[in-house]
Amino acid sequence: MDPRGFVDGKVAEISAAVGDQRALVALSGGVDSATVAALAHRALGDRLRSVFLDDGLMRVEEAEQVTADMARAGVTVEVREVAGEFFAALRGIADPEDKRKAFRDTFYRVLGRLVAESGCAFMLQGTIAADVIETARGVKTQHNVLEQIGVDPKGYGLTILEPLKELFKPDVRLVARELGLPPAISERMPFPGPGLATRIVGEVTPERTQTVRAAGAIVEEELALAGIHPFQCFAVLLDDRATGLAGEGRAFGQIVVIRSVNSENAMTAEPTEIPFAVLRKMQRRITDEIADVTRVLYDLTPKPPATIEYV
Ligand code: XMP
Repeated sequence: MDPRGFVDGKVAEISAAVGDQRALVALSGGVDSATVAALAHRALGDRLRSVFLDDGLMRVEEAEQVTADMARAGVTVEVREVAGEFFAALRGIADPEDKRKAFRDTFYRVLGRLVAESGCAFMLQGTIAADVIETARGVKTQHNVLEQIGVDPKGYGLTILEPLKELFKPDVRLVARELGLPPAISERMPFPGPGLATRIVGEVTPERTQTVRAAGAIVEEELALAGIHPFQCFAVLLDDRATGLAGEGRAFGQIVVIRSVNSENAMTAEPTEIPFAVLRKMQRRITDEIADVTRVLYDLTPKPPATIEYV
């Protein structure tokens, strides 16, 4: 992998494909979409519109962080607040596949609107090789590999370009560094397109999202403080309850799972060997700081047989 050659080649390809038209890129907060945005910005300059859809399913301060980090790389990112539309689409849905479908349909409906209003003929996406392989294998209907799941992007008014399709995560990071993106982005943990919806078992509501977001922030913070940098770490909210103590009485509260994995490219993963003291500190903070959580568990399952995310 020659990052400079890759960048030169893809910049030329994007320029040729888009011609003198305009393109749109949606950033998710992960390294893949940020790298595509930087690549397309180099190819198209002002003819690229970079949008961060704040769908209500992002991590703590994600919008602020992504816009600030991308600004340092010369890319202006516009934030669009669309949380209401996503929560309305997800209301009452518990089945994992239905949830992903509701997310995907909403995502493309919103993006289709943005494309139409801004006169863009193309949309760029950060699909990478692992997404393509896992979608083809039927592990997941990744929302960003439309053709493979039988959805025609033209139905949404879009022509999609996926310049990172052949790369695995470590190569994406090389390209991000080559493009001069700050380490906060090039070394950033992967974050799934459907966001925290993949970490909520059962219905996705603003309240449940807030619980998983707050717990996830604690997990990220405490691992970083302990000098542990896994491939991915986050919290999950289960759709079950367990008894705990609340003041003088009992509470049938919520259950949070800590998930942390080491991996090369997300195709396989091993649970991180977190020192017990660090796990206990995370547990204490989660049960102390987040209302209604009575249990904290640590997930020991590698991939396979589990997947990394829960939905
Ligand atoms: P799983 O859960 O399938 O995840 O083991 C493998 C990697 O992919 C990420 N992931 C997604 N990324 N859209 C994405 O862009 C998605 O729908 C999606 N689902 C999972 C996950 O975070 C992990 O890095």
